[in-house]
Formats: sequence, structure tokens, C-alpha cells
Amino acid sequence: MSRRLDGKVALITGTGGGQGRAAAIRFAQEGALVVGCDLFEEGNQETVEAVKEAGGVMTGMAPVNLSDPQVAQAWVEEAAAVHGRIDVLYNNASSPKFVPMPDLSVEDWQYTIHNELDLVFYVTKFAWPYLAQRGGVIINTASTSAHVATAGVGMAAHCAAKGGVLALTRVFAADGGAHGIRAVSISPGAIKTPGSIKEFFHIPGAEEAVIGQLLTNRVGLPEDIAALAAFVASDEASFMTGVDVLMDGGLTAL
Ligand SMILES: NC(=O)c1ccc[n+]([C@@H]2O[C@H](COP(=O)([O-])OP(=O)(O)OC[C@H]3O[C@@H](n4cnc5c(N)ncnc54)[C@H](O)[C@@H]3O)[C@@H](O)[C@H]2O)c1
Repeated sequence: MSRRLDGKVALITGTGGGQGRAAAIRFAQEGALVVGCDLFEEGNQETVEAVKEAGGVMTGMAPVNLSDPQVAQAWVEEAAAVHGRIDVLYNNASSPKFVPMPDLSVEDWQYTIHNELDLVFYVTKFAWPYLAQRGGVIINTASTSAHVATAGVGMAAHCAAKGGVLALTRVFAADGGAHGIRAVSISPGAIKTPGSIKEFFHIPGAEEAVIGQLLTNRVGLPEDIAALAAFVASDEASFMTGVDVLMDGGLTAL
């Protein structure tokens, strides 16, 4: 049986852990040639090893800070040169600051917009000419935070940035259609990753509290989102563009 992503060159950002690592492993298992990057070298190298152990192909580059447009451009050029093309761009990396209103500082607001929204624009802008060559796929990671607010946990900048990712995705799809480019955003709910453990899941009782808001008896895992992303990236999803797909254990259904 052929694999979903056989021979496709997939750039994935934020492959140092969490959903980026799970996607690198899953995409490689599906036959993709993965090129990843992260701010942190150690985690990124662990992902390269994990992909190799799973029998896949991955090139990892770190440290790379995609919130600097010049660094983003240099990474895209270097990543495109590895296999000579880009078929899939998965904008997964992001880094928010959570501070409740009205104490969210201007610096934390700007940091979050810069590290959750601007970097998606930068990487996509520079990857666009490659994606347009053969009709590629852009996957942007939004969030349930783009759809609903959560009181008291400091989501203002994060919700605004992820709402921006939804809007940006629609424009990428609209401008990309003529070039055969598809753009889809994925909105994960509560997924247990290094990032969310640091921000939230380390608090005793937090996981149980989240499960109480869901229609499933568990929180999400990085592998849940990786499986969805692998489908979105594949030719089986060739009629899918300009939409957001929620995977949230039913959180937003209630
Ligand atoms: N975990 C959740 O509950 C959840 C829910 C909704 C949406 N999301 C989104 O899913 C995506 C992945 O989240 P995660 O939980 O796996 O996060 P994570 O923090 O565990 O991993 C993100 C990775 O991206 C890297 N990164 C961050 N900023 C970067 C930059 N400027 N340049 C290069 N690399 C950078 C980090 O070093 C890290 O390895 C993010 O876009 C996040 O907003 C997560």
C-alpha cells in the first residue's frame, strides 16, 4: 500500500518537541522527506533521531528563530535546497505569553503577536514561490483560542494572534488557488505537550478540570493532531482549502 505522503518534501516548524515532533515522525512514516527547525538544538536533534529510528528521513536545523524575518528567509532557502523543492509547509511553531487583562504588558502583547502570527507570515511569504511551482499545501496551526475565549488565564494576545492565523489562512487559500496552493488551518484543543505542560498541565488537577469540559474522557495528544495534519497534507484532501479544522475533544461543541 502506498503511503499518504510518499516523496513529498515537508517543511515543519517547531520540531523540537510537542506537535512538531509528532508531525515529523508521522509525516516521515507516511513517506515524506521532512525538513524541520526549532529554537532549540537538543530537542530538535532528538526528533531527528526519533524519525530515523522510525525509518524516516529528516533534516533538522537549529537554532533557528523564525520570528526574525531574515532568519526565516534564510531557513526557508536552506530547507528548500535540501531536496530542491517544497511540497508542504506546516507552520506549527509558536510561543505565547499568557497574562490576564489589564496586566498584559505592551511588550508581552508584541512578543505574542510576533511569535505566533508574524512568523507564520514570514515563513509562508518566503516559501510561497517554491509552493507555487508544483501546487503545494500550507498548514497553519491555529487553536480553539481563535474561536472561544477562556476567562482569567491571560489569553488576549494569544486569542488575537490565533484569530489572525485563521484570517491569514483564508487569504493564503484565496491568493494561492490560482497557483494550485491549498491552505488549511488546524485548531487543536487542549493537547498535552511540553509547551502546555509548562503553561498549564503542571498545575495539580488541571488535566481533570479540562477533561470535565470535554466530550472525550482524555485530553489531546500530539499524535492526534499529527494524524489530522498528515491527511490535510495529502492528496486525499485535494478538495480541502480555505477552512479551519477543529480537533478539540468536543470543547467548542458545548
Ligand atoms: N498544546 C496545546 O494545548 C495547543 C492548543 C492549541 C494550539 N496549539 C498550537 O500548536 C502548536 C504547537 O504547540 P505545542 O503545544 O506542541 O508547543 P510546544 O511549545 O510544546 O512546541 C513548540 C515548538 O516550537 C518551537 N518554537 C517556538 N517559537 C519558535 C520560533 N520563533 N522559531 C522556531 N521555533 C520556535 C519551540 O521551541 C518548541 O519546540 C502551536 O502553534 C500552539 O500554539 C497548542
